[in-house]
Amino acid sequence: MKYQNILSHTSNGITTITINRPNKLNALNRATIQELHEAFKTENKNQETKVIILTGSGEKAFVAGADISEFADFDVVKGKQLAAKGQELLFDFVENLSTPVIAAVNGFALGGGLELAMACHFRVASTNAKMGLPEVSLGVIPGYGGTQRLPQLVGKGRAMEMIMTAGMIDANKAFQFGLVNHVVEPDELISLAEKIAGKIMRNSSVAIKAAVKAINANFKDGVDGYKVEVKQFGKCFGTEDFKEGTSAFLEKRKANFPNA
Ligand code: COA
Repeated sequence: MKYQNILSHTSNGITTITINRPNKLNALNRATIQELHEAFKTENKNQETKVIILTGSGEKAFVAGADISEFADFDVVKGKQLAAKGQELLFDFVENLSTPVIAAVNGFALGGGLELAMACHFRVASTNAKMGLPEVSLGVIPGYGGTQRLPQLVGKGRAMEMIMTAGMIDANKAFQFGLVNHVVEPDELISLAEKIAGKIMRNSSVAIKAAVKAINANFKDGVDGYKVEVKQFGKCFGTEDFKEGTSAFLEKRKANFPNA
């Protein structure tokens, strides 16, 4: 599929999706959200794609937020629809994707940009990354899951302060907060994400899919995560990957997962 606002490239099991509006600091307009939805959906079905890396084009930004020019004249109804549609199409969609998604935060990740990074399964950042949820400075609140995922990742007090002050934190502070897992120089960012992707790819994709479901269950209202874990754990025993993984261990050889 031909995209206007993103680039997608697959090599050695890794698909790198790059948000490509550098002149607008990769701000998320409607078209970009739709294209990202299509790309994630396509790659989740693509047998060649084992891990997805999401990043921004240029040296300055991952994503500098939702495209402010698109919603400046919205009313209450349209505002609500904007958040609901975006969450459904992209943010919840990415969080629940069975293919692992790593955000490689290569610069500003503000507003919807940080919300998108937080919807990914985990994050790595370059030393020049700056993260924040500045929405209250615009008279609005984070609407793409930021009020929920930021406290999950950094704790309520830190999230309150970040959201209330509309301030930005640098990569080291984000690391200290647990918002990103690793910080490296900008020219090492993608190779670090690829190295981690390589480690993930050695494991059972079927088991990883089950793990994502169980981990995410912890954060879903009215869902007992322990029960989801028991169910997913049990399901694994019926898979070819389980037979191969346990046999390989007992035979002292490297597992060759049928679904890898
Ligand atoms: N929506 C729409 N356009 C955006 C944008 C956004 N969220 N963020 C940046 N842009 C555009 C700018 O309007 C500018 O476009 P122009 O050249 O056509 O005028 C271009 O991207 C470059 O941004 P600029 O502000 O000139 O870069 P800067 O280096 O001076 O500042 C930021 C960088 C990130 C501090 C600044 O762009 C910013 O504050 N952006 C908005 C962040 C935000 O509030 N996000 C939350 C939205 S809910």
